[in-house]
Amino acid sequence: MQQRLQKIIAAAGYCSRRRAEELIAAGRVRVDGHIAVIGEKADDQAAVILIDDKPLQSAEKLVYVLINKPLGTVTTLSDPEGRPVVTDLVKELGVRLFPVGRLDINTSGLLLLTNDGALANRLAHPSHQVDKRYLVKVRGQLTNDSKRQLEEGVALEDGMTSPAKLVNLRISGNHTWFELIIHEGRNRQVRRMCEALGHQVSRLVRIGYAFLTLDNLAPGQKRLLSEREVKRLQGLDKNGPISKTKARQT
Ligand code: URA
Repeated sequence: MQQRLQKIIAAAGYCSRRRAEELIAAGRVRVDGHIAVIGEKADDQAAVILIDDKPLQSAEKLVYVLINKPLGTVTTLSDPEGRPVVTDLVKELGVRLFPVGRLDINTSGLLLLTNDGALANRLAHPSHQVDKRYLVKVRGQLTNDSKRQLEEGVALEDGMTSPAKLVNLRISGNHTWFELIIHEGRNRQVRRMCEALGHQVSRLVRIGYAFLTLDNLAPGQKRLLSEREVKRLQGLDKNGPISKTKARQT
């Protein structure tokens, strides 16, 4: 099928579409012997594409895996300190997979891994506003004002957080459990939001990502996404952001 070159390059997991456009503009991409130009299309199955004179790996089968990341694993491809990395959990699939976004070493739960660079880049891009649902346990009890701030915005050093939803709050001894649904993906965001309001997070689990949930996957377990789930992820742009999430039930 004829596709735009930047789309073919991104789909092969080489880089994002935008970066591919830059490579094309810089004259570093050749198609069937000639230097490619911006806007050019090529046959995604048959064209010989070279980047810096090296062949673009022919697109391998795209794989999409949902894992329940255990505590203590790092969301990188390798760790200089020798700690376990999330990609160890999918080694047996024999395909090089990359995490979509990241979870802290002390956060467990739902993480997607794929070799579909184009989809991974789209999902991780802030403009797509994918809902991420976290189960949070904090020390102490939340005041009404803290609940309001979590939902309306918390002032962090990198700016106010976007609107979020707080649901299923319950108090247990000296702790409060609740679910927080955010669509941003800033570094340590949930922990920093809670800390800014004076609450240390003692447990953090991602239990949902868009329409995907952890279901009964135990920590360390994985499952492949179905074709239908992949299609839904690819069409997420049309589904709209957090405004569709259930109203607060505290
Ligand atoms: N927020 C955090 O604080 N940590 C994570 O891993 C994810 C969201």
